[in-house]
Amino acid sequence: MDKTSTILPLEGSGLSVVRDGRVLLDVDHVKLGKQGVTCILGHNGAGKSLLLKVLSGLVKPDLGLVRWNGASIERADYKKFGYMKQNAVLLRRSAKANLEFPLLSFGWSKQDASTKADAALEKAGLTHITHSSARVLSGGERQRLSLARMLIVSPQIAILDEPTASLDPESTAAIEQTIKSLSGTGVPVILVTHNLNQARRLADNIIFLHQGKILSQQSSLSFFNNPECEEAKKFISE
Ligand SMILES: Nc1ncnc2c1ncn2[C@@H]1O[C@H](COP(=O)(O)OP(=O)(O)OP(=O)(O)O)[C@@H](O)[C@H]1O
Ligand SMILES: [Mg+2]
Repeated sequence: MDKTSTILPLEGSGLSVVRDGRVLLDVDHVKLGKQGVTCILGHNGAGKSLLLKVLSGLVKPDLGLVRWNGASIERADYKKFGYMKQNAVLLRRSAKANLEFPLLSFGWSKQDASTKADAALEKAGLTHITHSSARVLSGGERQRLSLARMLIVSPQIAILDEPTASLDPESTAAIEQTIKSLSGTGVPVILVTHNLNQARRLADNIIFLHQGKILSQQSSLSFFNNPECEEAKKFISE
């Protein structure tokens, strides 16, 4: 795949994941990659993270197909795929080394990776922790560093699984601002959140998952004003 080609849309059809006789995911069709922010909402255990893992190729579904731009996922495609996992794991190295790592693994020179990492730390407001071990960072610093690590390779799509969980209002606002600017540059953002106010602030579209099924896919406006299913109605009124 050359540099200019796209991995979008990410599509899944007929997806089913069953473990110990329990259906964890049962999705007829889902397509991610249109511009704007798409929020994935649903209760704990609804299957939000699992759906993202399946669409990213990390978990193989028992049934169904995942396609990126109509084709099966290639290793090289990951250069263009931004995925900040729930409770993302950082390397046990400095904050800067965490940012250099993806660049070096994608073939950047040490010098260029260093310069780019410094710039990314500055942009994320993390210059003061450049040489700190990722092990000692606060929750907010970890999340901001994870986000910077995802963005440093300029992905074509940004998938963020609860990036602001347990952050204070200031760190939450900083991450929301980054999401808005990213979306403003035309990069589709997929955001899992339990913060309904955040979804109202950021989302253009909503995907609502319930017990492994997508029960509604609507614009944010129509989801919050007139949800398509009873479960979503209950979810937003809780
Ligand atoms: N690899 C796995 N093996 C067995 N069960 C799994 C696996 N991955 C996920 N599950 C189960 O599938 C269900 C959905 O998990 P998932 O992590 O997708 O939930 P979620 O919607 O992201 O919830 P949360 O809001 O708590 O993060 C859960 O009941 C979980 O225990
Ligand atoms: Mg989850």
